[in-house]
Amino acid sequence: MAKTALITGVTGQDGSYLSEFLLAKGYEVHGIIRRSSVDYRERIAHLEGTPHFHLHYADMSDSMSLVKLVGKVMPDEIYNLAAQSHVQVSFDAPEFTADVDAVGVLRILEAVRTNHLEKTCKIYQASTSELYGKVEEVPQSETTPFHPYSPYAVAKLYGFWIIKEYREAYNMFCCSGILFNHESERRGETFVTRKISLAAARIAQGKQNCLYLGNLDSLRDWGYAKDYVECMWLILQHNTPEDFVIATGVQHSVREFATLAFHHAGIELRWEGEGINEKGIVASINTALAQAKELKVGDTVVAVSPDFYRPTDVVNLLGDPSKAKHELGWNPQTTSFEQLVELMVAHDMKKVAADDAAAEIRKVNLAEYLEKGVDK
Ligand code: NAP
Ligand code: GDD
Repeated sequence: MAKTALITGVTGQDGSYLSEFLLAKGYEVHGIIRRSSVDYRERIAHLEGTPHFHLHYADMSDSMSLVKLVGKVMPDEIYNLAAQSHVQVSFDAPEFTADVDAVGVLRILEAVRTNHLEKTCKIYQASTSELYGKVEEVPQSETTPFHPYSPYAVAKLYGFWIIKEYREAYNMFCCSGILFNHESERRGETFVTRKISLAAARIAQGKQNCLYLGNLDSLRDWGYAKDYVECMWLILQHNTPEDFVIATGVQHSVREFATLAFHHAGIELRWEGEGINEKGIVASINTALAQAKELKVGDTVVAVSPDFYRPTDVVNLLGDPSKAKHELGWNPQTTSFEQLVELMVAHDMKKVAADDAAAEIRKVNLAEYLEKGVDK
C-alpha cells in the first residue's frame, strides 16, 4: 500500500524537492501551507492539482491545527521542514523564530502522541550545521559538540534535543538530519549563494551595477538540495532511528562562490583591498555571456556592506558525511560545488532574461489597456 507522508515547510526549497521525490516513489504526499496575502506558491505550483498531492492550511505556531491535521492525514512519515530559516532574520525576530523552530518541533511530536501514532509514525527533523556555530572542531561530525551562535541556532538546538528526548522517553522513531548548507535554483533569494547567482546574472545583463555582501571570508560546505532530500528519506528508512550529518566534505568561501558565479556569467573578477574595503573588480569580460553594454574592465561589481554583517557569525562549517555514506549508502559527491554554481548561474541567466521579456509584455499590455480602456 502507498505510504502517506506529511511535509511541513512544503512551499520551501527542500519541501518542493522532497515532494517531487516522494511522489516519484509512489507516496501520497500532504503538505502544510499557511495563509499568505500572496496565493502563488512558486516552488510547488507545478504539483498543485496533481492526484497524490494535497495541501492543508495549518501553522507551526498553532497546536490545534497540527493535532487536527495529523489526525486527519494519519501519516506514516512526517518531514518537519517548516522554519523561520534565515539566520540573520533570527536576530530581528528571535521570539517568532523560537516559537516556530523550537516549540514548533514539540507541537509536531505532541500532535503525533495525541493521535496515538507514536508506534507507527516516523518523524524527520530538519536540524542544521548551525548547531556547531562557533565551531569546536573541523570537520564537524555526529560527535562534535554543539555551540549555537544565533537565535536561529539556539531554537534549532531545542528542536534537536526534544527529538532525541522523545526517541528515548517514548521509544518513537524520530531523528535529525544535521544538514549543512544546500542550495539550488529554488534557493530563497536572500541566502548568499542565490543572492550572488542572481546578481551575477543581472550585472552581466546590465540590470544591476553592484552586489553588496557581508563577510566574504565565511566558509561553507555547500551541497545541492536535490541530492539532500534523498537523505531525509533514507534516514527514515534506516532500521534504527539515528541522527546523521549530511554534507559534501568540501569547503569554499563566499569569495570563491562569487568568483566562480561571475565567471559563469562571463565576468572574471580580481579582488582588491581588505575587510570592509574589499572589492570585486572586473578583470575581463566574455562578451558572448556578459552582454551589458556599459560594463567595462576596472568596474567595481562587488563591494562589502556592514548591513550584511551579523552580530555573531558562523564562519567555518565543514561536514564529515562518513556515517551517512557508510550506513545509508548515500553519495555526498553526486553534484560538485563547481556543478552547483554553474547550474544556479545558468538558471538565473535565463530567469533574468525571461523576467525582462515578461516585463516588456506587461508594458505592451499596459500601453494597450491605457489606450483602449478597460472594457474594450
Ligand atoms: P525555506 O525555503 O526557508 O522554507 C521554509 C518553509 O517553512 C516554508 O515552506 C515556509 O512557509 C515554512 N514555514 C515558516 N514558518 C512557518 C509556520 N509558522 N508555519 C508553517 N510553515 C512555516 O527553507 P529550506 O531551505 O527549504 O529549509 C528547510 C528546513 O531545513 C528548515 O527547517 C531549515 O531551517 C532547515 N535547514 C536548511 C538548510 C539549507 O541549507 N537549506 C540547512 C540545514 C537545515 P512559507 O512559504 O509560507 O514562508
Ligand atoms: N545571507 C547573506 N547575505 N549571507 C552573507 C552575505 C549576504 O549578503 N554576505 C556574506 N554572507 C555570509 C553569512 O554571514 C554567512 O556566514 C554565510 O554567508 C552564509 O549565509 P546564508 O547563505 O544566509 O546561510 P547560513 O549559513 O547563515 O544559513 C543557511 O544554512 C544553514 C545551515 O548551515 C540557512 O539555510 C539555514 O536555515 C541553515 O540552517
